[in-house]
Amino acid sequence: DLPERVTIWEVGPRDGLQNEQTVVGLETKLEFLRRLAGAGLTTLEATSFVHPKWVPQLADADDLLAKLGRRPGVKYPVLVPNERGLDRALALGVESIAIFGSATETFARKNLNRSYDEQFAMFEPVVRRARHEGLEVRAYLSMCFGDPWEGAVPVEQVANAGRRLLDMGCFQLSLGDTIGVATPGHVEAVVRAFDDVTKLAVHFHDTYGQALSNTLAALKAGVTTVDSSAGGLGGCPYAKAATGNLATEDLVWMLDGLGIEHGVDLDALVRTSAWMAQQLGRPSPSRVVKALTGG
Ligand code: HMG
Ligand code: MG
Repeated sequence: DLPERVTIWEVGPRDGLQNEQTVVGLETKLEFLRRLAGAGLTTLEATSFVHPKWVPQLADADDLLAKLGRRPGVKYPVLVPNERGLDRALALGVESIAIFGSATETFARKNLNRSYDEQFAMFEPVVRRARHEGLEVRAYLSMCFGDPWEGAVPVEQVANAGRRLLDMGCFQLSLGDTIGVATPGHVEAVVRAFDDVTKLAVHFHDTYGQALSNTLAALKAGVTTVDSSAGGLGGCPYAKAATGNLATEDLVWMLDGLGIEHGVDLDALVRTSAWMAQQLGRPSPSRVVKALTGG
């Protein structure tokens, strides 16, 4: 059975822009967030409070939050890896954060400079303090369907890592296909490895063109929150290594066809992505954006 309604967790301003070669200016980011809210998206992952040397594209996180005009009914989560990041987020009045763990040892080291076990030790005080301050805390888990260094990742390993993050007190776990290698049967198996599907979200990158099929498999397995990025941002066609998230427009098109509610104005969203593509000086990789703009 398919859900009646899906929550779209828009990650373009964070996951999209962090992977673009062009560093987008602060005013453009603010305008992007304004337009996304105007298109009806109600969860806008705004930026990351990470080390600016690790992700220079988001080095303006503090300024962005200081200038961000929050719209009622819209939440603006930010990524926070450690207590230093939480301090920065709290100082700016952030109400929703996401920690981001890895299902594999190698990616924990590469992305967080921590071993697999050390990452949990880093997150624990973040989640405890954030919840004490009344924040909502989401958890991401990367490399749930395969890791470029370790290869296949056993379902049980993903379930163990995910449970550890949920047990800390995170309200939701987003299962990340960081390198876009998942296929629908695998998605179903990973989703079914968790007791409570209402706590799950899915986060597909479209590297192998499977993101929409994988999303449909997740919806059929009971998932109702889907991460996507406006215009498929992050998938710069001129940068071999970078492939974007599932495009929000592609997701919306499929949901419309299935009669599933999502609250997004597709035309306004397409205009926003076309505008952002202009700012980046390249066409959007989203098939739906291309189809609807005659590009
Ligand atoms: P580290 O170098 O081990 O940090 O990095 P440290 O704790 O040793 O501290 C070293 C210095 O960094 C200190 O400064 C800290 O204050 C400073 P010093 O005392 O030497 O002057 N520092 C910070 N400064 C600002 N903000 C902070 C911060 N933390 C420490 N938060 C760290 C560890 C986790 C910080 C680093 O590895 C990092 O920033 N990693 C982030 C990487 C990242 O953002 N990756 C992309 C997001 S994950 C993703 O995209 C996947 C996802 O989309 C799902 C999927 O697709 O699978 C979510
Ligand atoms: Mg991602």
